[in-house]
Amino acid sequence: MPATSLEQIVSLAKRRGFVFPSSAVYGGLGSTWDYGPLGVELKNNVKRAWWRSVVYDRDDMEGLDAAILMNRLVWKYSGHEATFSDPMTDCRNCKARPRADHVFVAQKGRDPKGLPEINEAIAAKELKCPKCGGTDLTEARPFNLMFRTTVGAVDTGDGSGLAYLRPETAQGIFVNFGNVLDTMRRKLPFGVAQIGKAFRNEITPGNFTFRTREFEQMEIEYFVRPGEDEAAHQAWIDARMQWYVDLGMRRENLRQREQDKTELAHYAKRCVDLEYKFPMGWSELEGIANRTDYDLKAHSRSPENPDAVGELKYFDQEQKKHIVPYVIEPSAGADRATLAFLCDAFDESLVKEPPAEEATKLRELVQSFAKSVDKKDPKQMEPETKARLIAAAEKIAAGLPGTLPELLALSDDEAANKIEVFKKVRGVSEKLGEEFTRTVLHLHPRLAPITVAVFPLKKNEPRLVELARGVKKDLQAAGLRAVYDDTGAIGKLYRRQDEIGTPFCITVDFQSLEDKTVTVRDRDTMTQERVSTGELGSALRSKVG
Ligand code: GAP
Repeated sequence: MPATSLEQIVSLAKRRGFVFPSSAVYGGLGSTWDYGPLGVELKNNVKRAWWRSVVYDRDDMEGLDAAILMNRLVWKYSGHEATFSDPMTDCRNCKARPRADHVFVAQKGRDPKGLPEINEAIAAKELKCPKCGGTDLTEARPFNLMFRTTVGAVDTGDGSGLAYLRPETAQGIFVNFGNVLDTMRRKLPFGVAQIGKAFRNEITPGNFTFRTREFEQMEIEYFVRPGEDEAAHQAWIDARMQWYVDLGMRRENLRQREQDKTELAHYAKRCVDLEYKFPMGWSELEGIANRTDYDLKAHSRSPENPDAVGELKYFDQEQKKHIVPYVIEPSAGADRATLAFLCDAFDESLVKEPPAEEATKLRELVQSFAKSVDKKDPKQMEPETKARLIAAAEKIAAGLPGTLPELLALSDDEAANKIEVFKKVRGVSEKLGEEFTRTVLHLHPRLAPITVAVFPLKKNEPRLVELARGVKKDLQAAGLRAVYDDTGAIGKLYRRQDEIGTPFCITVDFQSLEDKTVTVRDRDTMTQERVSTGELGSALRSKVG
């Protein structure tokens, strides 16, 4: 069963060392996350797979790693100082600060034409605070999403040291266009790829690592002759979609969404979003825009830009004249892609039926949980939450023991955990879950944090331990991420590795001592085959690809 809520992913991520809430020892910092030992491997593998696909596997791409801090003028002429903002309004009654355009859309059922229309509606008391329902809202003002900092030891207060933490990596590529062109002797079409941190003071971060204030982007700026831009754009849309599919993401969980004219950024001629069906619904994974010649022109010396030192252009040998290339920009989020791969890989299922009396006991507990929810005062629990929990509990109770995985998913629900009897439900279901369910991350072998785990059949048999450690060392030398583990029975060790997505487990047994073969168990098919230790490295490398 795939993840039905993001909480299941959050819970697994925390439990198994993928992602932790940041600075938790001081109570945390809202919507900031730290990648743990397995998370950093997974995210690095996502970034490596991207780089390999868009740089190494192509002949028309170069890489770049530009600085996060850039001259403030970059952000002036890119348009970010003036336009990279969200309109915010303050509620004078409850002090909430909602996004005014979201309030407008939610209450008027359509997009506003601009800030003036939003403010007219606020002045006419047509918009209500989404928190308290009051209509005493301040005029909406643009709130710039760029984080400001000061460069240098002294803040003179006149803004001369003002700098921004970059809100996108793209501008670092545009301002280096001439450098890459000259040093790498490139001809159009060619592109530049970059992976790096970006920062946005998002008003509404949330949904785990989906929207955060600090995140990593994987961006490409692909330069083409004007006129060749539309075909190149479509080719990139197809290539980027295929990348996710090739790494095991289910096609039915991916879709393309054409942005309509009102959504398009000021620089874009066309933009297609690749969306993923996250547990919270279809949401953007990557945007692929045709940015025309907007950026290269914006950073070129002109009457509109007297600060630039030169022009970002290309001498076209065929036409014997300078042209300004168009730009196709596939812009993906490394954190968002990592989250999508995690969600897509997650699978929790019942592997065998628990005894009937245990299932009956659990059913009764779930029913009494539903009754407790029903009795909750509306002041303590919102009606929609009540209805949701009751519906979930009734469905689970009717389907037990088959619905045990769904019940385990509910264990991560904050509202459910506020009900006293749910503690008992959790205790019993988690105990049954340990024995009768299996959680697996079906991650592509290239993405899995650990490729292969090696176990000795008995940890108190020195010859098995020695051989298992040797096998692990050889696999490491073959370039595979391998670990050794002897901290439990083989079945338990398989479970642990399944839960973190390790595609291969190797057991060294007594036969291994005689014929130098080991058992290789496949995570997805659970089949086991004997492979000679001498062939292990190449056999597994070919499966990773
Ligand atoms: N240079 C174009 C650009 O930055 P964007 O749609 O704003 O376009 C591109 O961002 C990608 O970066 C998004 O599709 C998403 O994957 C990721 N991204 C953007 N904002 C993010 C945030 N606050 N948290 C996590 N990822 C984010």
